[in-house]
Amino acid sequence: MREKYLLELGGENTTLGKYEALELFKFRKYHPKLENDYGKIVVISTSKEIENKIINRLSMTKRLSKIIFSSRKDNIKKSLDDLQEIDIGEKSFAIRQVGGNKLENEKTSILIGEKVSINNQTDLKDPDATILFYKNKNFNISLAYKSGHTAYKKCLKHHISYRPYFSPISIHPRIARAMVNLSNCNYTEPVIDPFCGTGGILIEGADMGLNVIGIDLKEKMIEFSKGNLKHYGFEANLLKSDFKEIKNLEFSSIVCDPPYGIASTTGGESISQLMERCLDTFQKVMKRKQRLVIAVSNAEMVKHQNLKLIHKFEWYIHKSLTRNIIVLEKN
Ligand SMILES: C[S@@+](CC[C@H](N)C(=O)[O-])C[C@H]1O[C@@H](n2cnc3c(N)ncnc32)[C@H](O)[C@@H]1O
Repeated sequence: MREKYLLELGGENTTLGKYEALELFKFRKYHPKLENDYGKIVVISTSKEIENKIINRLSMTKRLSKIIFSSRKDNIKKSLDDLQEIDIGEKSFAIRQVGGNKLENEKTSILIGEKVSINNQTDLKDPDATILFYKNKNFNISLAYKSGHTAYKKCLKHHISYRPYFSPISIHPRIARAMVNLSNCNYTEPVIDPFCGTGGILIEGADMGLNVIGIDLKEKMIEFSKGNLKHYGFEANLLKSDFKEIKNLEFSSIVCDPPYGIASTTGGESISQLMERCLDTFQKVMKRKQRLVIAVSNAEMVKHQNLKLIHKFEWYIHKSLTRNIIVLEKN
């Protein structure tokens, strides 16, 4: 029997959010299948229950809940006749609707509440378990536990406005984390950011329990990364060097955000030259099946003859800046 999950995606980029989850679950051997795609809401099935440690990694999914009941009947009251008691152990709970109108919400919440033992306390502010219902083609009831929260809100604590060392070039924590999750990195070999700047990607990697290595041409940036990581209680192997130092290092994946505009330092090289040189170096050092996840403003600059294009996502930042997140894999 396959498990089914309802994912409520953040509105920033639902395609990126969907694939962040699918790729991470695939790499962690949950054999995911996309069952339904309703834009901000998707239903995914997996071959086994997803561990909290993996759910906690997601940055673009607001909430992930496990579907415990599904009915095709049109009448909600009738469909609930088929539902036995909802067992949530001794946990406190709240009942919430995903989408839909309020009146239906109240009636349905009462009916669902009758399926929960009277020994369970309701707690609308901070429940241990949230019982969700969602009506589309099917009427679904799903469960989300507090311990199985995603990082959608949590990673905002890593936003530049909360870091001691600030630079406007830093990537948004949600994008940084999604990039790491798309990179198929494992827990034994490090994920490497060869253009680490103030450490946005390294912070997300370390927060997910991964080993991280950062390289940057500028001493100041290495100091900034070190200070920011320390602020959150993390460590990384940090090297002040040109990115080509990667040739001497072992890693499981490369995730980076190379310089893209006049605000970034390149050490005198043009952005196009730098991109050509780094793509060439990465292709040579990557092993079969390893991934490079790279954020660029001009996707044309990413020449990848020896790397297979897996995904390309566009992230609109403002009128004159769209970031492309490109996922490449060594053949
Ligand atoms: C867009 S920033 C990276 C921002 C980073 N993701 C963050 O969270 O702060 C690009 C970084 O690449 C560094 N850089 C430029 N040329 C480099 C090179 N040849 N080798 C390594 N780092 C380089 C710059 O110093 C800059 O910190």
